[in-house]
Amino acid sequence: MRKKVIAGNWKMNMLPNEAISMITELAPLVKDTENEVVLCVPYTDLFYSLLTAQGTNIKIGAQNMHYEEKGAYTGEVSGKMLKSIGVEYVIIGHSERRQYFNETDETVNKKIKTAFENDLKPIVCVGETLEEREAGKAFEIIENQTQKDLDGLTEEQVANTIIAYEPIWAIGTGKTATSKDANEACKKIREKIVETYGQNIAERVIIQYGGSMKPENAKELLSMSDIDGGLIGGASLKAESFAEIVNCK
Ligand code: PGA
Repeated sequence: MRKKVIAGNWKMNMLPNEAISMITELAPLVKDTENEVVLCVPYTDLFYSLLTAQGTNIKIGAQNMHYEEKGAYTGEVSGKMLKSIGVEYVIIGHSERRQYFNETDETVNKKIKTAFENDLKPIVCVGETLEEREAGKAFEIIENQTQKDLDGLTEEQVANTIIAYEPIWAIGTGKTATSKDANEACKKIREKIVETYGQNIAERVIIQYGGSMKPENAKELLSMSDIDGGLIGGASLKAESFAEIVNCK
């Protein structure tokens, strides 16, 4: 049985005082869950969030990192830096970074390897655009991304990679994939992993759904056979709605 991982993605929202309030409010609401609870926060909130989450079951993640350890990369933050303050997770290859910041499958692949070198758990995002879906290419796109993003990883690294299937047309739009479509896409990702790494490894990979997941639709999505959690944007900004998703059974 795979453990479910419910991860919030705050994107470019929340000042430190808001982060502290949200996590303080969230902690008692999610303390009894069996699911893994993660909040991926802006760099400026990391330290405050880590301190506030101390002694709770809430884990803290970043939303990006550079693949080099250090050097002349103005404005960047390395995996080693994240690890040094106690960060445990990092989102890699979110579609907004692919779309606006030139993230490619090659850089995603390098970043995943660096994440593992620094003992960070990567949450790797894949997903198709609306045009790609309408052209019947959704599975081809996500299978391709999965293959390129995981290229050269060891079996153990693949087993410890979290993949978030996030159809781009569902992100922040209020449109959610149907649970059947979302599950089918997650299944395709798992089958792709079976091809290269075999059934045993693929069965261990946590595959989340992301894209307008909210309390009203989370229960159904999370009950599907191949959906092992969620990556949640908008609904993770408020303790109450995020807790409802975490606690839905
Ligand atoms: P959303 O964002 O829940 O606001 O659609 C999800 C994401 O981009 O990870």
